[in-house]
Amino acid sequence: MGSVRWSGIISAYREFLPVGVDSPIVTLNEGNTPLIPAPAVSREIGPQVDVYLKFEGLNPTGSFKDRGMTMAVTKAVEEGSSAVMCASTGNTSASAAAYAARAGMNCIVIIPDGNIALGKLAQALLHGAKVFAVAGNFDDALRIVREVTAKYKITLVNSINPYRLEGQKTGAFEICDVLGEAPQYHFIPVGNAGNITAYWRGYKEYYAKGLVSGLPKMMGFQAEGAAPIVRGHVVEKPETLATAIRIGNPASWKLAEAARDESGGVIDMVSDEEIVEAYRFLAQSEGVFCEPASAASVAGLLKYARQGFFTRHHPVTVGPHATSGKVRIVCVLTGHGLKDPKNAIEFSPKPISVPANVEAILEHVALEER
Ligand code: F0G
Repeated sequence: MGSVRWSGIISAYREFLPVGVDSPIVTLNEGNTPLIPAPAVSREIGPQVDVYLKFEGLNPTGSFKDRGMTMAVTKAVEEGSSAVMCASTGNTSASAAAYAARAGMNCIVIIPDGNIALGKLAQALLHGAKVFAVAGNFDDALRIVREVTAKYKITLVNSINPYRLEGQKTGAFEICDVLGEAPQYHFIPVGNAGNITAYWRGYKEYYAKGLVSGLPKMMGFQAEGAAPIVRGHVVEKPETLATAIRIGNPASWKLAEAARDESGGVIDMVSDEEIVEAYRFLAQSEGVFCEPASAASVAGLLKYARQGFFTRHHPVTVGPHATSGKVRIVCVLTGHGLKDPKNAIEFSPKPISVPANVEAILEHVALEER
């Protein structure tokens, strides 16, 4: 790449996306997020694995939603729309509000009152969206948005908008471009189930073009209190501290099951305790600050590793994946930790209040003199 300037996922992966030469691209230079090696997580599992973190928190609005939103808003402008609307647990609304502002469009968002992280709310508000906090959950909000957008001239930009998943599949392209191959396992949080669908599509498209010679198993994780796919029925009152995935009736339910089954993967669940453990571990042992929902991917990985999953499923020693001799695992970290300062503070030691002098500090830490 050298000095070539990055100008967003549409220009980088144009030939894989439904855009024309005249499409009025609305971009904030999203994508190109780092694939960070995770040596501490790898050590927890064993010498047979290499774990990487796809840190989607480094997108312009701090989550993976920007990949889908650049496509959805570009197509909305192309189709002559002047307003967009979404339901959201927070990140979609932040992204929609930012890209709508960029495009000079109006934006309406519907959020579950009291259940979105503070940073996300701040983003939607400051970008100028009209924000409605409904007395209900995400599933109620999405029902309202479906009804309004079916009847009135305003573009729906939730992931049931087909352009959203088209944009989001570019995350898989970037992983393959960096590794030179697909990983063997792809761990990902599951909420409304769009992202697992999009990544699987991306991997399959690269495979079909011969750009990679293998496909990963898709390993999706829901929160225990919001795990409709795992339980096989709608969850009427979803509950989890990972509010981003507090969803009881995912829109892409069937597509996520197809990704699981075609890839030979799983969709399983992790408890809030397991999510918090992974959240703190990533922050304290890898130096990576993601939001709680994002840590569900790593929580799932650690849970499976402890159950012996990677000793039962022996590393591949022949074939396209044999290059390093190690099992390559990617965990997607979907959103930045700064989105949710309340949980970050809740699960950390508190600051120590002291008078403004050196002695007060030294009472609390043992330092050796020079
Ligand atoms: N991680 C984060 C940080 C999210 O914000 C979401 C979804 C997910 C994971 C799950 O992805 O829905 O594609 O399965 N957030 C949506 C929102 C629902 O409104 O921001 P998914």
